[in-house]
Amino acid sequence: MDFIFQCARLFLSALDPETAHLFTLRALRVLGQVRRANRPPGDTIEVAGLNFPNRVGLAAGFDKNGEAITGLNQLGFGFVEIGAVTPMPQSGNPKPRLFRLTNHRAVINRMGFNNEGVEALRERLRVTPEIKPTLLGVNLGINRDTPISKAKDDYLQCMRLLSDLVDYFTINISSPNTPKLRDLHGGARLSEMLKTLLEERDQLIVDQDRRLPLFVKVSPDLEPALVRELALCIREARCDGLVATNTTTARDGIRHRLSAQKGGLSGQPLFNKSIRTVEAVRDAVGADFPIIGVGGISNGSDAIAMRNAGADLIQVYTALVYEGPRLVDALVTALADS
Ligand SMILES: Cc1cc2nc3c(=O)[nH]c(=O)nc-3n(C[C@H](O)[C@H](O)[C@H](O)COP(=O)(O)O)c2cc1C
Repeated sequence: MDFIFQCARLFLSALDPETAHLFTLRALRVLGQVRRANRPPGDTIEVAGLNFPNRVGLAAGFDKNGEAITGLNQLGFGFVEIGAVTPMPQSGNPKPRLFRLTNHRAVINRMGFNNEGVEALRERLRVTPEIKPTLLGVNLGINRDTPISKAKDDYLQCMRLLSDLVDYFTINISSPNTPKLRDLHGGARLSEMLKTLLEERDQLIVDQDRRLPLFVKVSPDLEPALVRELALCIREARCDGLVATNTTTARDGIRHRLSAQKGGLSGQPLFNKSIRTVEAVRDAVGADFPIIGVGGISNGSDAIAMRNAGADLIQVYTALVYEGPRLVDALVTALADS
C-alpha cells in the first residue's frame, strides 16, 4: 500500500498543485466505496459534548464541498471539517492561487473561499452515505461581496441550512484571503456577532435536545495580548471552543522564489506560531475550554507538542500533501501512546 502511495505522490507532485488536489479528491471519492479493515486504536475523547473517536481531524479547506467525506473517513480521521462554505457559490480568486514551497514543506494559498455554495453542500450531505464514526464539522465563511458589517447574516444562513446534517460549526474569521474578514477579530463587533450566532444556534436544537457546538477559528498573526483578549471574548460569549490557527501572512525565514506570492502560508513554517497561539489561548481561557490546535503539524512529536501546548484535538492539512495518508495513523497512534 505504501508503494502505491509513493507512486501517487510522485505523480501528483508533477502536476500543478490545484490539479493534484482535484485528483486527490477524486481518488478519495473512490476510496470511499471501499471499506477499511483496521483503524488504529484511537484515544477516544469527549470535547464540547461530542465523542471523538480519536484526536486527529482534517482541517478546513481540503474538502470544501463535502465531496470525499466517506473516503476521508477511511483514512482514519476522528473528525473531518468540510468547507469553508458560503451562502452563494463563488469561484474564488483567479488561478494560479495555490503554490507548493517544497523545501519548506509549506503551501501558500489565496483560494478565496471557492465553493459551490451552501444549498449545493446541503444537497450533497443529504445523500452522502452514513459516515459515522467520524464526526463532521463545517467551516463557515462569508461571500466576497458581503460587507463585513453583514458577516453575521452569511454565517446565520449557512447555520440554518446545515444544522441537521453536521456535528459542529466553525466560524471562520481568520482567512487572510477574504478582504476585511480578520477585522472581526476582537472588540464589541465580535461579541455582538457571536451573541447573535449563539442565540440562533440555541434555536437549532437537533435530535435529543443536542445543541451543535460552535467554534471560532482564529489567526496566528496576533500579538499575545490580542490573542488573550480574543480568547476571553470567545469564551465569555459562551462559544464551545476555539480553533487555532488559520494560515499566516508572515514569511519569516522563508527562502523560495514563490515566497512573495500573496496569500496564507501553511505547513511546517507555521508550527511555532500556531503552537505559541495555542499556549496563549490556553493560558487565557483556563483548563476546561476546548481548543483545536492546527498549523504545521507534520509528525507524531509535533502532535504531542501541540497537545502539551493545550490542544484537546488537532487538525492537519498541508502535511498530508507531503506525507500522504499514512500520516493520519501516525498521528493517531502517537497521541494515543503519549
Ligand atoms: C489550500 C488551502 C485552503 C484552505 N481553506 C480554508 C478554509 O476554507 N477555511 C479555513 O478555516 N481554513 C482553511 N485553510 C487553513 C487550514 O484549515 C489550516 O488552518 C492551515 O492550513 C494550517 O494547517 P496546516 O499547516 O496543517 O495546513 C486552508 C488551507 C489551505 C492550504
